[in-house]
Amino acid sequence: MNIDNQVSMPRIGDKAPSFKAVTTQGEINFPEQYADSWVILFSHPADFTPVCTSEFMTFASLEQQFEKANCKLVGLSVDGLYSHIAWLRTIKEKIEYKGMKNVEIKFPLIEDITMEVAHKYGMIQPGESSTKAVRAVFVIDPKGIIRAIIYYPLSLGRNFDELYRIIVALQTADAFAIATPADWRPGDDVIVPPAGSCGVASERMAGQQDMTCHDWFFCTKPIAKETVLNTILKK
Ligand code: BEZ
Repeated sequence: MNIDNQVSMPRIGDKAPSFKAVTTQGEINFPEQYADSWVILFSHPADFTPVCTSEFMTFASLEQQFEKANCKLVGLSVDGLYSHIAWLRTIKEKIEYKGMKNVEIKFPLIEDITMEVAHKYGMIQPGESSTKAVRAVFVIDPKGIIRAIIYYPLSLGRNFDELYRIIVALQTADAFAIATPADWRPGDDVIVPPAGSCGVASERMAGQQDMTCHDWFFCTKPIAKETVLNTILKK
């Protein structure tokens, strides 16, 4: 927070703010220690709460899938380390939900009692709660740049298929210099960056037989699902 009492929040395209913190998996030096990976840094309001429990179980069950896409998960709440440890143990030992049981959360969960990290990342949004972090999601690339941000309120559990889709879509956009249209999934046509002026699209179409232009500013082309997945997923 600055002297005018205004909150500074990281934005897309910014370098992810650095911090060192204690987690359930030891100390981390963020984002430096994730230099070769994509990372999802996400906050939750509180340990031992139902929506958060459903989220952690879902995220943990998808961890391998994210790992194959070179994406690590890092959680945070303003609870302390011993609360985190007790909650994660309860999840593993006692909670059965939607076919998931014995779920072990292997990714680090940051303790942030001072709310230092939560404030750095704009996770404390007093209109929603001044004592709990909202459900924030920061997608950070291997260069430590914030590439996507989503904030959800306390009552709304996240859609983890969408978080995975974001990771795959951003990596595909980087690898093929394209953009991805609404609801894009691997195998769907991608958007060739806008030509920028009338007439250029038809010239480009002449050079690229597989491109379809719906108008001069809106051209798509296919990329096979296997091509996308072979490019971005670890073997
Ligand atoms: C929950 O995770 O269930 C929750 C946490 C804080 C406020 C409301 C719901």
